[in-house]
Amino acid sequence: MYMNFEDQLRDFSRQVKFKANFGELSPFKNIVISGMGGSGIAGSIFSEIYDKAPVQVVSDYGLPSYADRDTLFVGISYSGNTEETVAATKEAMRRGCQVRLITSGGELSELGAETVVVPKGYQPRAALGYLIKPFLSTFITSDEAQYDRISRLLSDMDTNNSNEKDVAGKIFGRRSIPYVLGYPPFRWVAYRWKTQFNENSKILAFSAYFPELDHNDAIPFKHTYGKENFSFLVFGGSTGQIEKRVRFTSEITSTEYITIQPKGDTVLEKLFYLVHAGDYVSYHLGNMRKIDPEDVSVLTELKERLKS
Ligand code: PA5
Repeated sequence: MYMNFEDQLRDFSRQVKFKANFGELSPFKNIVISGMGGSGIAGSIFSEIYDKAPVQVVSDYGLPSYADRDTLFVGISYSGNTEETVAATKEAMRRGCQVRLITSGGELSELGAETVVVPKGYQPRAALGYLIKPFLSTFITSDEAQYDRISRLLSDMDTNNSNEKDVAGKIFGRRSIPYVLGYPPFRWVAYRWKTQFNENSKILAFSAYFPELDHNDAIPFKHTYGKENFSFLVFGGSTGQIEKRVRFTSEITSTEYITIQPKGDTVLEKLFYLVHAGDYVSYHLGNMRKIDPEDVSVLTELKERLKS
């Protein structure tokens, strides 16, 4: 059944209850994840909240030279046909890595590796719940009550996303470029916002994160750019030195922020809340710009041409 893009976004609250994990795993020394765009981001977000073993996310055709039999390799491609991920997966199998795949079908599903199959019918970036859940259930928490709470937070936002629409309205009204400022453990969530602006709103966007941005991005904030060029979006809820940095950076560089305040008690709840807020802001901005948030024909044409 075809779901329009808004319905796909609204499905996130159901996706986080998807019951899937990687099953029995042999011991491993490191994790290498391969995935591009809306699929790869699942691995990147996971890599920031998991610290029991080194994790490297590869958004390319190959694998790092250390990847071997002691490596858990996870290939993520929603379509299963993304050539970079297919190539990296074949290489992982050749090197004898322990391989797990997450896909809805395509070439990846025919490689004979152990696979978590996710439902078809979504844009990859609107299937993040399905793509990330196997990582979370296997490595972070298998407590379904946690996912129930996340699901409620997300569906509350589906019912009322007027705050997110207001943020989109500010960006639109200023004809500005979004600059999303995250902080650990939400650095990749800030990057996810950037990519959602690219794909859903069809505009350029940037992301950076505290504390690193204070050592570079903050300098042009003061000297060269300001609110006439950019809308600076910052994730609220930071504490300690990061909270001070957020405040002092704004004061020293005269940068006005639009603050996105996460709801929830745990890191996972806040993380999903922030991800979904970015989905809605970028979606509303696309509609305000009168473009189709779902359309990614540039990418589709590129993938077709690369086949020849
Ligand atoms: O959001 C998108 O549609 C893209 O960023 C895709 O995720 C990316 O091109 C990779 O495709 P797939 O997710 O099918 O591997």
